[in-house]
Amino acid sequence: MKFYENVLGLIGNTPLVNPNQYAHPANPLAHYRTTGPEIWEQTDGRVTHFVSGLGTGGTISGTGRFLKETNPNVRIIGADPYGSVFKTYKETGRTGEASPYLVEGIGQEIIPDNVHMKYVDEIINVTDRESFELARQLGRREGIFCGGSTGTNLAAALRVARGLDETGVVVFIVCDTGEHYLTKFHSDEWLKEKRLLEPQRLTAGLIAGTKGGQAPKSLVHLTPQTRVADALAKMDEMGLEHIPVIEEGKSIGSLRENRVLAKVLGNRDLLESPVSEVMGASFPVLDVDVSAADVTRQLQKSPAVLVEEYGRITGIITRHDMLDAPVGN
Ligand SMILES: Cc1ncc(COP(=O)(O)O)c(C=O)c1O
Repeated sequence: MKFYENVLGLIGNTPLVNPNQYAHPANPLAHYRTTGPEIWEQTDGRVTHFVSGLGTGGTISGTGRFLKETNPNVRIIGADPYGSVFKTYKETGRTGEASPYLVEGIGQEIIPDNVHMKYVDEIINVTDRESFELARQLGRREGIFCGGSTGTNLAAALRVARGLDETGVVVFIVCDTGEHYLTKFHSDEWLKEKRLLEPQRLTAGLIAGTKGGQAPKSLVHLTPQTRVADALAKMDEMGLEHIPVIEEGKSIGSLRENRVLAKVLGNRDLLESPVSEVMGASFPVLDVDVSAADVTRQLQKSPAVLVEEYGRITGIITRHDMLDAPVGN
């Protein structure tokens, strides 16, 4: 293909170019000329397996071609999200139906021209959960701050490596920087929302801060001076069965609707009293960093727990909130 086939027209004298990375041969050619030789040189020709995701197909097709031409025994492995069509296409020649996944940059619903399956020996499917978990681990354990498709590649590379002896040299692609994903899979809140957070990373602060998939709201509470009648009206209006009593950021008690109503029925004058006269014990207070398993244990004894950060109460977790959290014990 000549360069000018990618020129769509002119704006004045300026050509309007569609580089079309999905079909332009310069894409795999760049990897044939650079990525492939670089891997060969840096492994002193010892590379036995190359693992890459497929988006446009440029990386795997160009690098795969170079490595196979240099040593036909090198195995080229595609890493593909579940839901993408590449694995089915490689194995059956048909694309089948794609379904959604969250990893970005790899996987397709159709086969781009730059995907040359003759250079690909095998395709391994990887879940979003494993891709994100491994991408995060690569940052924590190796200091490589990467994107989600790198996690997909790493998952496939680890699967390949498990079956090899010490002569095996597996190379996988680190596709991009994690900076693009700070508010996505590198964020615990985002992962929790997508129900993909590793259970051991779920903390009291995270549960309280992302209840019902919403941004943190200010904590609904009473002060000890609130009139009991006003407190009951507020609870009724907000549909709350229990509410904390907070003074200067500290929890000093709680109001439980049933208990207060029972007291008020016996003595109507209490409606005019301050909450401090009828309140019960405070809900247990847990630090923001306490694990979800500890929150669950406390909620077996108390209908709610309060979350404290830097010495101030910042949130509440009820039993109902916990049903939404992906927790192991
Ligand atoms: C983040 C990311 N990972 C992987 C790929 C896949 O590489 P290729 O398009 O060469 O198949 C891309 C492609 O743009 C990407 O953006």
